[in-house]
Amino acid sequence: MSTQKILYQPNPEFAAKAAIKNMDMYWKLQNKAIEDYEGFWKEFADEKIDWLAPYEKVLDESNAPFYEWFTNGKLNVSNQCIDRHLADKAHKTAILFEGDRGDVERISYAQLSLHVNRMANLLKHEFNVQKGDRVVLYMPMIPESAYAMLACARIGAIHSIVFGGFSSEALKDRIEDAEAKIVITADGAYRKGKPYMLKQVVDEALTQGGKSVEAVLVVKRNNEPIEWVEGRDHNYNELITSQHAECPFELMDSEDPLFLLYTSGSTGKPKGVQHGSAGYILWAQMTMEWVFDVKCDDVFWCTADIGWITGHTYIVYGPLAAGTTTLMFEGVPTYPDAGRAWKMVQDHKITQFYTAPTAIRVLHKMGEDEPKKYDLSSLKVLGTVGEPIDPPAWKWYYETVGNSKCAIVDTYWQTETGGHMISPLPGATPIKAGCATLALPGIMAEVLNIDGETKEVGEGGLLCITKPWPAMIRNIWGDPDRYASAYFGDVAKDGQPVYFTGDGARVDEDGYITIVGRVDDVINVSGHRMGTAEIEAAVAKDDSVTEVAVVARPHEIKGESIFIYIVLKDGHINADIKNHINALLSSEIGNIAKADHIIEVPGLPKTRSGKIMRRILRSIAKGEEITQDISTLEDPSIVEQIITKAREA
Ligand code: WTA
Repeated sequence: MSTQKILYQPNPEFAAKAAIKNMDMYWKLQNKAIEDYEGFWKEFADEKIDWLAPYEKVLDESNAPFYEWFTNGKLNVSNQCIDRHLADKAHKTAILFEGDRGDVERISYAQLSLHVNRMANLLKHEFNVQKGDRVVLYMPMIPESAYAMLACARIGAIHSIVFGGFSSEALKDRIEDAEAKIVITADGAYRKGKPYMLKQVVDEALTQGGKSVEAVLVVKRNNEPIEWVEGRDHNYNELITSQHAECPFELMDSEDPLFLLYTSGSTGKPKGVQHGSAGYILWAQMTMEWVFDVKCDDVFWCTADIGWITGHTYIVYGPLAAGTTTLMFEGVPTYPDAGRAWKMVQDHKITQFYTAPTAIRVLHKMGEDEPKKYDLSSLKVLGTVGEPIDPPAWKWYYETVGNSKCAIVDTYWQTETGGHMISPLPGATPIKAGCATLALPGIMAEVLNIDGETKEVGEGGLLCITKPWPAMIRNIWGDPDRYASAYFGDVAKDGQPVYFTGDGARVDEDGYITIVGRVDDVINVSGHRMGTAEIEAAVAKDDSVTEVAVVARPHEIKGESIFIYIVLKDGHINADIKNHINALLSSEIGNIAKADHIIEVPGLPKTRSGKIMRRILRSIAKGEEITQDISTLEDPSIVEQIITKAREA
């Protein structure tokens, strides 16, 4: 708490050259947005987007909450990210790739254009991928992943990337929900010096289901032996060389879907978050310029995986739309040693480094003094995302990595928001450690109660975005009712439903917003979002389990870890239940869903109407005193029994 009060002022030298140089500039922008919301967005849309046909209306709210931005405007996101840069940046590095084993490849904007055009032709002409078709990517961190994303954007296909850590079952579910026509994958890639495999997961998924898939396009990365289904599987490396170097881009509508990205919510089934074209790319580019203050010669490194929204917006779309150099890294920042990330910063003269608090905690723990061994003087801005950052990790990041010179932008946002929502501006905002500070200009973030009333200073409440914004989620794929109820069903302000993030937050006396964490049943393990209901559904597939409840427990490195209570069927004793359940979670969802704690209990605390009292289970998992009234439970004695079991675990 004490560190929170200390204000870190922006570095004056940096501020002088920054896009937003001081708080006056911030307030000028934000006040303009408050006074003339559409005018504010119009100005930036006109300045930043290469419109191929003008839009007719900035914001159409007539079908709320299905908002439309820049109605009937025409553009193409691959033009925005590539073609329009070719006049003056053809030879500039667009993607700087470093492989796990240290191999480096520089792909200029001209080369990127060639790769993307060829891949677009391949998809279109060899596989008949049409505008609106869905293409699932199950890919490692290699440049071909970016080519595939941009090739889809070029021909108007909708990509849906499934994180390479998801299991075949999870992949199959996502393929089926999106009804994908084609899957693009790789044989595998390298991690920690060794090859790992991806293609076989696709094979398994397509054995289990995914009947809509007509073809699998396989990029060869590690050349390890793989199974090959004749007629279905196709070799990218062989086919690509004969593709024509030019593929004219489709004229896309502002609102045409650009991609789907599945994410967890508080119910069992993952949601296909659907993003649009114009609003998304506009905000991806604007936040690169404002929050990372990216300049022409910068080398930007975001360590996320392209399978998450951070990888979409801040490895591919944002940096390329802004015309900068984006670093893509195949490996892990702690291999071959805890200095790898810092060596890369030194070697590539990285100017902005963007990572998750979990990674910062790991790097801190594994090599407190490691950053001092390298020349990190190129760094200007450090970023964090995905979970609240604790003050000790923040302090180390600021002092040891940033040499007390770099601003730390603690960026709060979500898969659904498309880009940053609440974050310091590195040249303007005085920073408090562990605080996301203020909403970005144009974003109307408020902490409300369920009736839409503003919370008092210091009081916890529900973090809501009270006006639609260009990069917002447009729909849940195939489920508009769920979209409306999941995001606009909880809080109404002045009678109007507003977007509720699912996060709790509080505002301090300076108007700064601190994110407290999810208030719904979503767990955040190392910045990976997982719904408790999704995990419970997977565990319930075990025949010996009758009841299951999943909660989060605070974890020193991961932020949160998964804590599972299970009730076994009468007469069942299973000494190996923990391994068994974790194997099940790994095959149903992926290794990221493995639990740290699985305890077998005689029953769950329930009200007389049968509702599981999760608050009690959360408190027990945290080792907290039970303060709530348990006398109304069906069987109050169960609480004591669970506490005993939890202590033993
Ligand atoms: C959490 C990741 C605190 C939050 C971009 C949100 C954060 C969820 C921060 C979205 C932050 C993200 N401080 N919490 N700076 N950034 N979160 O969809 O709970 O994977 O709702 O998007 O991560 O996770 P998602």
